[in-house]
Amino acid sequence: MKFDQSNALRPKFHELIPGGAHTYAKGDDQYPEGMAPYIVRGAGCRVFDVDGNEFIEYGSGLRAVTLGHAYEPVVAAARAQLDLGVNFVRPARIELEAAEQFRELVPGAEMVKFSKDGSDATSGALKLARAHTGRVKIAICADHPFFSYNDWFMVSTGIPGGIPESRKSETLTFRYNDIASVEKLFAENPNDICAVLLEAERTAAPRDGFLHKLRDIAHKNGALFIVDEMVTGLRWHKGGAQEVYDIEPDLSTFGKALGNGMPISALAGKREFMELGGLRTERERVFLLSTTHGAESASLAAARRIIQFYNENDVTGTLHRQGKRLREGVLAKVADLGLQDYFTIEGRDCSLLYGTRGPDKKPSQPFRTLFLQQSLRNGLLAPNFIISYSHTDADVDASIAAVAKSLVVYKKALEEGVEKYLTGRSIKPVYRRFN
Ligand SMILES: Cc1ncc(COP(=O)(O)O)c(C=O)c1O
Repeated sequence: MKFDQSNALRPKFHELIPGGAHTYAKGDDQYPEGMAPYIVRGAGCRVFDVDGNEFIEYGSGLRAVTLGHAYEPVVAAARAQLDLGVNFVRPARIELEAAEQFRELVPGAEMVKFSKDGSDATSGALKLARAHTGRVKIAICADHPFFSYNDWFMVSTGIPGGIPESRKSETLTFRYNDIASVEKLFAENPNDICAVLLEAERTAAPRDGFLHKLRDIAHKNGALFIVDEMVTGLRWHKGGAQEVYDIEPDLSTFGKALGNGMPISALAGKREFMELGGLRTERERVFLLSTTHGAESASLAAARRIIQFYNENDVTGTLHRQGKRLREGVLAKVADLGLQDYFTIEGRDCSLLYGTRGPDKKPSQPFRTLFLQQSLRNGLLAPNFIISYSHTDADVDASIAAVAKSLVVYKKALEEGVEKYLTGRSIKPVYRRFN
């Protein structure tokens, strides 16, 4: 497998685009040196790069492409809308149609506002919570990696560039499944916290009614309970993790799977809060999400078709089933090789993340790099094992075989040293202060 064309493009990307990518998680520094492919096209669960390599891909579009690349019913719906125009000086009827469909999907969504990125939606939720409560501080879950590229979240990551120092005190953190850490925050910041914000679940499931307790504590202290469903929405369940755990957030945010890669996100929730951004409130107005492309209609048409598809097909059941097949198949190979302490899989079947550990059994970036290097060689583009609806049994089985081959080298590297098998530098964490 050759990466010559990709390697020739790399300096050009960096010359023109800061970071050489429009999302840091897609950056070269997240892939083995000289093995970071530039993509030409995708079809289903496969992608094809500029060198003509073909990969089975996982976590496509940063988990947005849940049905599959160029998924025909969705493409057809978006294409049909393109022919009708996508942006007008007044709202298009499709904005209401999409909102009605979304409300049926997510029962707690009494109102919804669409936008383009998840970061817009979570930032909108924070703005509403601040406006409603008159408080500034937000409590976010420290165990969840990303809520927004905006200052209020980035200030918590240790990359302070461009963020005023004064913002630091506005974002507090609590631990998942640790209700005492939440109680402590409210005790130390009385009447200061506008909301608690978290994903309903990432790798660990909520224990001892954690989500319900968190909501109750927030409400007892006059704060809002916000659930970020960017990853869980239309993946855990078509109605999101709030449906799985039978909990109604005050506000929740969706994106990713809602557009199968097309740009659409949603801020949804209780009328009482959402109306602050409306024209019917007696209270002080909130200039909520308001962007030129907020209601661009091709993405709304795609989202409508996607919701319909979920209503007609058991998409999330398939994601869970295929993820389970992948997990079990990989873990069987891991056990065969005796690597249980070194290569792990976490998360729900529909959203699997793997962990790479070195000889000391601690998380290891060089070993992650080695696994990526070997799995790329074996035809996988897999920064995680997040499945799509397009992964067939055969794709999953081929992936298990590719992982098994990769793990044989991984095992040798554990015994003989990772440097011997790595062909380039190690990857680096996304959140770091200096390059
Ligand atoms: C849980 C969560 N929230 C918010 C976001 C931000 O969404 P976007 O990248 O569309 O701005 C992401 C993106 O990865 C996410 O995973």
